Amino acid sequence: MSLKSAPDREALLAKCGENTLLIPHELVLYDFLTDSLQHRLLPRNANATDSLPPGIDAALPECFAARFGMPHAIPLSQGRLAEAFVAKLLVRNGHVIPGSAPFPTLRAHIELSGGTYLPVVPAKAFDLWTRHPFKGDLDTEALEAVITRSNPEWVPFVCIEPCNNACGGQPMSLANLKAVKEITDRFGIPLLLDACRVIENAILIKESEPGQNAKSPWEIVREIFSLADICVMSATKDFYTPIGGFLAFRKRELYEMSFDLLALLGDGLAHQAKTDLLSALSNEEAILSLVQTKISNVRALHEGLKCSYNVVEPAGGHAVVIDISGLELKPPFAVKNFLRHIYMQWGIRASEHGMESSSAIRLAVPLCGVDQSTINQTVSGLRKAAEQASLVPALKKVDEPAGFTGFMRARFKCDNK
Ligand SMILES: Cc1ncc(COP(=O)(O)O)c(C=O)c1O
Repeated sequence: MSLKSAPDREALLAKCGENTLLIPHELVLYDFLTDSLQHRLLPRNANATDSLPPGIDAALPECFAARFGMPHAIPLSQGRLAEAFVAKLLVRNGHVIPGSAPFPTLRAHIELSGGTYLPVVPAKAFDLWTRHPFKGDLDTEALEAVITRSNPEWVPFVCIEPCNNACGGQPMSLANLKAVKEITDRFGIPLLLDACRVIENAILIKESEPGQNAKSPWEIVREIFSLADICVMSATKDFYTPIGGFLAFRKRELYEMSFDLLALLGDGLAHQAKTDLLSALSNEEAILSLVQTKISNVRALHEGLKCSYNVVEPAGGHAVVIDISGLELKPPFAVKNFLRHIYMQWGIRASEHGMESSSAIRLAVPLCGVDQSTINQTVSGLRKAAEQASLVPALKKVDEPAGFTGFMRARFKCDNK
């Protein structure tokens, strides 16, 4: 199937129930659905090796410990598998877990184990159009109040997610992270770091946090890790790998307890995947350079879209969030109509972003595969889309499978057909 023509894309959309989430990545010209490299066919990394290093099973955790300073690491296939381990190990009925605005799979794992996730996010996180450099910070007063109210014994950990995805990739400051750690230490509660985008966050701390500019991003990364007791990490966002993640612990006890679960659930990693993961982690300079490029691309996209849309300020580390509430789109699926239209007309894929405003759209920028031409074409398509909004056809839902992920596989029809 050709990607070049709108009629081809229209036919593909019809096959996929007009749902852009169901279109395979290979059939998207400009794909901003996710910054994950998981569904991409990546050329081998320049550092990759075809011969297995002897003892890869030891080399990988050793490399993790050297990069991040956390001694006990278990490589896993994905971040969400690490979350499942943590929930099974630590969360029981009635537990309360306060923290950053959560990633949906973390929240779901906690809830499946009987816990309740309580975001403790300051008002500035949702002050969408005002520039605050660290909108990903936690509200430390609210955190302390939740812990006291819930009884610290019922709080198995507090969760922090630097470059918070739910807020559109907004970073946390080191000062806030330290204040959070002071509170968790005082109550004797472990601090869990979702380190998915910790490199991005460290770069933004160096750039914008007073007193941090003299440090290298890697010094900041290790400082962030030094505050954490437990780490879950998806490696497919800040590192050049299509698979991989980590579960890591500062103390040996929980690490040892994870091996029973590892025997039951597996790590999901083929040997080749482990070598790719190792090479993705092996060169600090190369990692920084890729993440720097990602941040620059996000900013270029943000800058280009500003004149046509309300854009969440400032640009996030990995995403641009735009508000389309001002466009004349037909209800009840205004955002889906728009997402379908931009794919059909220009081959651009973005996603709905469930923030305060239900008419937010997220463009997530991956580590590689985005160049100036991609950005120019995307900006140009989206500018035209803003002008044509009143002509965008409406969708009506024809089917939605059961289950909490059913909405992702829902099928629609164009109302004008
Ligand atoms: C913040 C965050 N945590 C966890 C995950 C889950 O990671 P994975 O996709 O590797 O399962 C993601 C995925 O996008 C994420 O953005």
